[in-house]
Amino acid sequence: MHLRRLAAAPAGVSISCMSRIPVETSDQLARRGFMKLCAASAAAVGIAPELLASTAPVKHYARVRLVHAGGQAVAAGALPVGESLVFNYPYATTPCFLLNLGRALEGNLDLHTEAGDEYLWPGGVGPASSIVAFSAICAHKMSHPAKTVSFINYRHEDVSFRDHAQKIVKRDGVIFCCSEKSVYDPARGARVLGGPARQPLCAIVLEHDPADDALYAIGSRGGEMFEKFFATFTPRLQLEWGLSDVRAPVTGSSTVLAIDEYSRTQMLCGG
Ligand code: FES
Repeated sequence: MHLRRLAAAPAGVSISCMSRIPVETSDQLARRGFMKLCAASAAAVGIAPELLASTAPVKHYARVRLVHAGGQAVAAGALPVGESLVFNYPYATTPCFLLNLGRALEGNLDLHTEAGDEYLWPGGVGPASSIVAFSAICAHKMSHPAKTVSFINYRHEDVSFRDHAQKIVKRDGVIFCCSEKSVYDPARGARVLGGPARQPLCAIVLEHDPADDALYAIGSRGGEMFEKFFATFTPRLQLEWGLSDVRAPVTGSSTVLAIDEYSRTQMLCGG
């Protein structure tokens, strides 16, 4: 069982403080107050604040096994480095990136949503702590991989873009949305490196089972765009996926595809 998710609560600490933070409340002040209360409780029994914060903001969905198109489980140790992979989660029509960045990715990175809600990104999972997943719905205007085309993609090779100071920089390993050129750093929780996006891509929480090397998606952290996504795109999603209920939750397993299998055309750009 993955220790990032299921750290045991010490005696005297309510499990509600560990795993049931009301992350969807719009009352940010109330949430902060609740966090302080939990932190105070944790401090009283000696639990590390970063452990509390790293578990608190997870929004849990179904625990879903990541599989290949043939149904066999994706093996974390065999996930190709630098390849842009996509799977749908937590809904049948919401795409996510699955990336093996090829190096250990430290977690406990303090990030915040556009609304100011703070959360900790847990880092990479898998045998080399190098595997991450994020919602592929751009945090700006929700460009996303569709069956016909994707304007947002992971770029393992060097690419140029404008940073926050409008300076042209060149680097590899970014998620680049070519719609209005928002750029995200998947090695740092998909924080924004440049462009108009005002919050990181929503992180998808993964578990790795070392017993069989399988990967599972279990929830999300950070700024979800799903409600806005459905409000904007439902008619097109119904046609594209042949579903009346575009919010159907993914359960059991989700198929992982290369981006060019998921979307026929890739729009790639530079700064
Ligand atoms: S939708 Fe991605 S940058 Fe605007």
